[in-house]
Amino acid sequence: MGKSASPERSDKPAPQKQGLDKQVARLREQLRRHEHLYYVLDAPEISDAEYDSLMRQLQALEAQHPKLVTPDSPTQRVGGKPREGFQKLAHSRPMLSLDNAYDEQELRAWDRRVHELAGGQPGGIRYVCELKLDGMSLALWYLGSRLERGITRGDGSVGEDVTSNVRTIRSIPLSISGKALPPDFEVRGEVIMPLAAFARMNDDREAEGLSRFANPRNAAAGTIRVLEPNIVARRRLDYFAYFALDAKGGGLFPRHSQALAALAKAGFKVNPNHAVAADIDEVLAFIHKWESRRDSLPYEIDGIVIKVDAIALQLELGFTGKAPRWAVAYKYAARAG
Ligand code: IVH
Repeated sequence: MGKSASPERSDKPAPQKQGLDKQVARLREQLRRHEHLYYVLDAPEISDAEYDSLMRQLQALEAQHPKLVTPDSPTQRVGGKPREGFQKLAHSRPMLSLDNAYDEQELRAWDRRVHELAGGQPGGIRYVCELKLDGMSLALWYLGSRLERGITRGDGSVGEDVTSNVRTIRSIPLSISGKALPPDFEVRGEVIMPLAAFARMNDDREAEGLSRFANPRNAAAGTIRVLEPNIVARRRLDYFAYFALDAKGGGLFPRHSQALAALAKAGFKVNPNHAVAADIDEVLAFIHKWESRRDSLPYEIDGIVIKVDAIALQLELGFTGKAPRWAVAYKYAARAG
């Protein structure tokens, strides 16, 4: 065993201070856990009142001891606002869009092309099927396991630094623990406005004599660029992660499905309605299943995204113009209204 602790050591923090640090750390850990249960897993274990009480205890301690405040404390979601609009920031690598397929024939043609270019993969080509969330793509940079920047897609090469607004989205972790991802990494995903939040926001706007937003996508895209984080926090945006990259924009795992699992393990909200398909028939079954279930979801989707699971094959297939050859968006018919 190591040295036994000497109670007389003078370089130890005062017992009271040490107790305070522990108390603050414990409250933060509890709050993070309950935020994850509530906002990411949709499985709360305590009441809102109990959560608020923990939050108030932490706020009180931080108010008494401002030196203990850290940027990733759960109290720091609504902080400073950008003074002169949003700064432009270059993406680590371009944020691309997707080519679309509008029917089975087009999808089968895409699958044949993937097989041709892959030159006969032994064991076939596995695809990951994901819901195509109707929102706006957003990149998150984490440094030293803390959220550092949130950046809109912009023109794909340069986006806007909307970090102060991104911090208000409760399903986005301000810090990460565990070893599922390295300390420096990037996440890409979709910021959406769930239908309930969209309805509530439009009702509020109408009551204030303002125009209604046309659809949840416009509402999400408009809200993430509002210059007042307090307003953004009230609008209840949500975020689903669908890519994990290293700090230079490279891949972290041999398979896309592994990246999704790691993101969920690290505390991000990953849409649970995704599946690995062994061939294009399984992809089509997934597409048809979600076409009929689409209306039961609490957010809007406009199709299914199909991605080659093996990252090595993704690299081999590469890109055309501004879209990857290794992925395609199967678009559902637009909904009436
Ligand atoms: S992958 C290079 N996955 O659809 C890959 N995109 O038309 C590009 N979207 O800009 C993105 N859900 O905003 C991907 N599960 C998903 C998605 C998704 C929605 C959006 C995204 C993208 C657009 C492409």
